Amino acid sequence: GSRIKVVVLEGSDAVLPCSLSTKEKTEQKLFNWKKVDPNKQEVFRYDGGNHYNDGQDEHFRGRVSHFPLELQSGNASIIIKNTLVPDSGNYTCDLFLQKKQAFSIELVVGAAPKPLIHVLKITEDEARLKCEVRGAFPKPKVEWRDGDGNILPAEEPQVSHTGERYNITLLTTVTRTNSSLFHCVATQEEIGHVTEDKLYVAFSGTCGKVITGWLGGCFIGILSFALVITGWLVATKTIKIHSGRLRSANSSSEETTAPGSETGPEELRVLRNSSVV
Ligand SMILES: *[C@@H]1O[C@H](CO)[C@@H](O)[C@H](O)[C@H]1NC(C)=O
Ligand SMILES: *[C@@H]1O[C@H](CO)[C@@H](O)[C@H](O)[C@H]1NC(C)=O
Ligand SMILES: *[C@@H]1O[C@H](CO)[C@@H](O)[C@H](O)[C@H]1NC(C)=O
Ligand SMILES: *[C@@H]1O[C@H](CO)[C@@H](O)[C@H](O)[C@H]1NC(C)=O
Repeated sequence: GSRIKVVVLEGSDAVLPCSLSTKEKTEQKLFNWKKVDPNKQEVFRYDGGNHYNDGQDEHFRGRVSHFPLELQSGNASIIIKNTLVPDSGNYTCDLFLQKKQAFSIELVVGAAPKPLIHVLKITEDEARLKCEVRGAFPKPKVEWRDGDGNILPAEEPQVSHTGERYNITLLTTVTRTNSSLFHCVATQEEIGHVTEDKLYVAFSGTCGKVITGWLGGCFIGILSFALVITGWLVATKTIKIHSGRLRSANSSSEETTAPGSETGPEELRVLRNSSVV
């Protein structure tokens, strides 16, 4: 008949179905589950009330069982507990009645790790962002998207794999004209799974740093910084903006770096416009 496909995520249990449409009792019969690749390993064997572990492949030891009560209605399904990515593949269920009946089931055990975004470099106008997905199966499609969900241009993905699992790295450079919210999205169509990481990038004109998750932190950061600066201005009375540094006219010509080392010239300009008398 047609192939049945079972999809689960790694670590969960998978029921591989195999049952007779006639619902003929199978308690006194023989059935045999094998995994086709790589070499027809024995998965589970039942023979008229006994099930055997002797021929069973080590990989499946202690993880597979059948449903004794279901045998009354011709149901020889099995459950594989705590599935692993290498359990993925094609299985056969052979039921020996008057004649053999064979069933084919495809199992896909997916691993869907969350992508992780790293900021490689950030300047006033540009940010170079790296997205990494490690240990995924099946191979995900990885994309950069903006806050509206539009796909952003990115470099050729770097793909490597260990066994079934894929590592994918995708680099992009975003500019201050692009939206400030960036998503890295990993899509695994075969298992119907989508996962993402997101990042707010506030270029130095706005805030001068990168905030993961919540833009509010940026405004709070600016606000408290502005309060500190305002207080300091009142105390020193005069201030001159000189190539990105603050110089007090009262004290000597000694240069003082503004509090908050991530402060850039842009930010000072913004603050001066808004909070300096
Ligand atoms: C066979 O048994 C399994 C486990 O109880 C169940 O999930 C499945 O629906 C049954 N199949 C049929 C056709 O009844
Ligand atoms: C399972 O069998 C189908 C059909 O023969 C094939 O397309 C598919 O690649 C197989 N899956 C695996 C994991 O070998
Ligand atoms: C993929 O990433 C994992 C986890 O960091 C690492 O152990 C493995 O060596 C990487 N595989 C390849 C082929 O780069
Ligand atoms: C950002 O926007 C500019 C102009 O709108 C566009 O040319 C560029 O490709 C975009 N960059 C990314 C990474 O999307």
